[in-house]
Amino acid sequence: MKKILVTSLLLIGFVSFSQQNTIDQKVDALLNKMTIEEKIGQLNQYSGDNQATGPITINPNKESEIKQGLIGSMLNVLGTKYTRQYQELAMQSRLKIPLLFGQDVIHGYKTSFPIPLAEAASWDLDAMELSARITATEAAASGIHWTFAPMVDISRDPRWGRVMEGAGEDTYLASRIAYARVKGFQGKLGDLNSVMACVKHFAAYGAAIGGRDYNSVDMSERMLWETYLPPFKSALDAGAATIMNSFNDLNGVPATGNKYLLRDILKGKWDFQGFVVSDWGSIGEMVAHGYVKDSKEAAFAAITAGTDMDMESNAYRHNLAQLVKENQISIELIDDAVKRIMRKKFELGLFDDPYKYSNAKREQKEINNPEHRKISREVAAKSIVLLKNKNSLLPLSKNTKKIAFIGPMVKEHKANMGFWAVDLPNIDYDKGIVSQWQGLQNKVGKNTELLYAKGCEVEGYNKQGFAEAVATAMKADVVIMSIGERWNMSGEAKSRSNIHLPGVQEDLVKAIQATGKPVVVLINAGRPLVFNWTADNIPSILYTWWLGSEAGNAIADVLFGDYNPSAKLPMTFPRDEGQIPIYYNHFSTGRPAADETATHYVSAYIDLKNSPKYPFGFGLSYTQFDYAALKLSKTKIKENETIEVSFELKNSGEVMGEEVVQLYLHDQVGSVIRPVIELKDFQKIKLNPGETKTIYFTIDREKLSFYDKDLNWIAEPGDFDLMIGSSSKDIRLRSAFELFKK
Ligand code: NOJ
Repeated sequence: MKKILVTSLLLIGFVSFSQQNTIDQKVDALLNKMTIEEKIGQLNQYSGDNQATGPITINPNKESEIKQGLIGSMLNVLGTKYTRQYQELAMQSRLKIPLLFGQDVIHGYKTSFPIPLAEAASWDLDAMELSARITATEAAASGIHWTFAPMVDISRDPRWGRVMEGAGEDTYLASRIAYARVKGFQGKLGDLNSVMACVKHFAAYGAAIGGRDYNSVDMSERMLWETYLPPFKSALDAGAATIMNSFNDLNGVPATGNKYLLRDILKGKWDFQGFVVSDWGSIGEMVAHGYVKDSKEAAFAAITAGTDMDMESNAYRHNLAQLVKENQISIELIDDAVKRIMRKKFELGLFDDPYKYSNAKREQKEINNPEHRKISREVAAKSIVLLKNKNSLLPLSKNTKKIAFIGPMVKEHKANMGFWAVDLPNIDYDKGIVSQWQGLQNKVGKNTELLYAKGCEVEGYNKQGFAEAVATAMKADVVIMSIGERWNMSGEAKSRSNIHLPGVQEDLVKAIQATGKPVVVLINAGRPLVFNWTADNIPSILYTWWLGSEAGNAIADVLFGDYNPSAKLPMTFPRDEGQIPIYYNHFSTGRPAADETATHYVSAYIDLKNSPKYPFGFGLSYTQFDYAALKLSKTKIKENETIEVSFELKNSGEVMGEEVVQLYLHDQVGSVIRPVIELKDFQKIKLNPGETKTIYFTIDREKLSFYDKDLNWIAEPGDFDLMIGSSSKDIRLRSAFELFKK
């Protein structure tokens, strides 16, 4: 038996090795047949017309260029009908090299899932992997081979509109999420329910100065390595097949033409074997950056730096052949890029069947099927953060007689999909997306009367609807308000200088609160917003982000206690824009200030506290959790030793709930300054009322290490504080240990 197992394991290994071998041989054989124009064609990606995700350059010759083998990949071609049509054109080309269809399938395809920042708030890696897997299943069934996700840019600036696409501010959490998402999207390349992942945007795009999209990035190398690169490495460790570079320049060199990032780190140190796609037009944009003088120089800079595929700037298509002719670049450089792309086409099985993924029957069966919607609802409920619940106003009783539902988001359908939803043609999203109003209707029984008033728009200064809203509230036993920012006020090119609740919405909250009725506020947004009056005066607040297809049902599940909220903020919420950038794992200054009181001559503002409105890792539950009995197996270790940490977690409340227990460390003294606190591990634990569980963590060398002055990854001897918390500010258990020299 044992022998058979060993033999079959060897065989599996042998088969995959030989498969890879065969793929390389096939790629080489194909390459030998290709003209230089055909090779360059494979490095060229155009947008179709189904969805515009950038400034489209109209190209009336697209179809004939595909037939000539001058295009290797398309984006924004959606559905089996269109992917098939385009693939048929490619099959008319001389070498019949199949097209690769890429798409921004970021948080769901037809079944829409919560925006990635919301999902990150669930801290539930299995849920995120599953949502990515369902997303991949639907996209693949409709002919998509490749998603431009996950986006793993760390960001400490909520003004930046793209925070909605990532996993927030913390490198450790984001790295774990990046891994889970790649596993979910990609699984095993070539499977029918998987798509290639494309980890983006390489690199440091989330640190755009002033939170303004496409802006420059200026940062130390240590910051780059310590904070911004690890999620990329983690995604590549999970097997991400491709990577997209970023629009920004990094310390004066555009990422698209950045040899240090692409050749030295990615394809050098990390030995990345997949391919690099530019961001939309980013090769050409190096001219606007003032880094090169024209498209030809841009093509030179990008290909020599290591960008393999040109998305929508036509720079490769028009210049690479000439650059080879002039001996400015070698044909081997182009061959390497072509091989990288071709390998993926083989691994996906497209040479065996170019229509493998475009299958109308599967598309019909997979997209938006009830099982997917059920999971979307569960993930959505897991993403909702309970920020406040004074006197346990929530959960609401299903026997409440009259509930007023007020605000501009209440009856929205499609908006609940948030930014970066795939906009499939000919779909009536007003039918498919469960509005918050419908969700409430589905939840309450016949004895509950639901009243509605819009009150105001998201933006603008019109208060004419206030009187009706107040009158409606007066008739109710409880008021629920749904406010926030419009779905497309966050996302690409959606930076905001003012992240307060837009328009007169907070005035509406004040007017409704003045009725004396109990008020619950739902905040829909793609970023942390500022809403101090609401936070200080409204008894119950749920941060609902944008939750996708089942938004209304998921919100109702939480409002009425069918799901006990368990999410925790993946980003710090500032008190005011003036605190930005604000993040929990900052350094200590030489003149540290207390969080709440600013005295003179310390690092503080004279007009604002240093503490955030809501800290990283924060989120309440309808139950309470007690932390006790912290034990460390040792308090002195050598580098190669580990410490087993344990403690007791008890659900001391009345209902079942889940708690995200967070392990933080602080390295007291370092050869470079260490953050005051750093997340190093977490677990999400489900407990019945009264139940206690012993929770275990292991501290090893990896958790104690950091990049020193010379960028060596080291663990320095010294003292460490260990903290176990319910958030980065709500530390429940503390201890300390020492790492000593060998
Ligand atoms: C530009 C965005 O930065 C990128 O994330 C996206 O994948 C491409 N456009 C394609 O839509």
